[in-house]
Amino acid sequence: MLAALLISAAHGQAEDRLAVHLRSCAGCHGADGNSAVPGTPSIAAQPQIFLENYLVMTREGIRGTQLMQSLLKGMPDREIVALAKHFSALKAKPAREPVDKKLFQRGKSVAAANRCASCHLPDFRGREQMPRLAGQREEFLAEAMLAYRQNRRPGGDTIMAASLYGIAEQDFKALAHYFSRLK
Ligand code: HEC
Ligand code: HEC
Repeated sequence: MLAALLISAAHGQAEDRLAVHLRSCAGCHGADGNSAVPGTPSIAAQPQIFLENYLVMTREGIRGTQLMQSLLKGMPDREIVALAKHFSALKAKPAREPVDKKLFQRGKSVAAANRCASCHLPDFRGREQMPRLAGQREEFLAEAMLAYRQNRRPGGDTIMAASLYGIAEQDFKALAHYFSRLK
């Protein structure tokens, strides 16, 4: 009886802690994981492994913003896994912004010519440590590519700088436009 009470109390506490964490994430990433803030990525429907890796590296101070680093500092692995599970199960809701057909087509052909789908999957929903690109915020994607190119994405996988090798910077805009408009 007492043991059962203690277990349910501990369970309740874990839920409270997750709820508190989720409220702080929501301030920037949106309550449903779809960001309305320029420069801040959506994190709904990202692969769980990508989220876990990113959050662990942020906790250790090698990725993410200072604010996220302080939010995650000392967070036990099980709470990080709970956060990653939560966001990976949410639905991606791309912003309903107009499509520039020329830019979209250009992005599509650059992505095909460079085999981006071989890792991010043909519908660009990502898998394992490879993030979802479909429906991500356009300006965030463009900036992320530029940052890989300029080696200023701390903790970022070097495979991405290599994958972008030889692509003109103006095509980052087209790629970002294309991915952001995919459902
Ligand atoms: C003050 C605003 C803010 C808060 C609060 C915040 N984040 Fe972030 N987050 C950002 C910004 C800005 C970036 C982009 C950082 C970059 O690219 O360098 C980001 C990036 C991320 C990424 C990487 C996504 C990608 O596609 O690359 C993940 C995952 C993430 N945040 C998870 C979280 C979680 C989980 C919480 C709550 C514990 C949280 N963040 C709280 C602003 C915030
Ligand atoms: C060999 C596998 C591989 C290929 C090919 C690849 N990517 Fe990636 N990509 C990754 C991995 C792994 C990450 C996560 C890196 C990290 O953690 O910073 C990533 C991250 C990204 C991000 C950052 C997204 C975010 O939410 O943080 C963008 C944008 C991106 N890739 C675009 C592309 C484009 C455009 C191409 C084709 C030119 C491409 N990728 C080809 C593996 C790949």
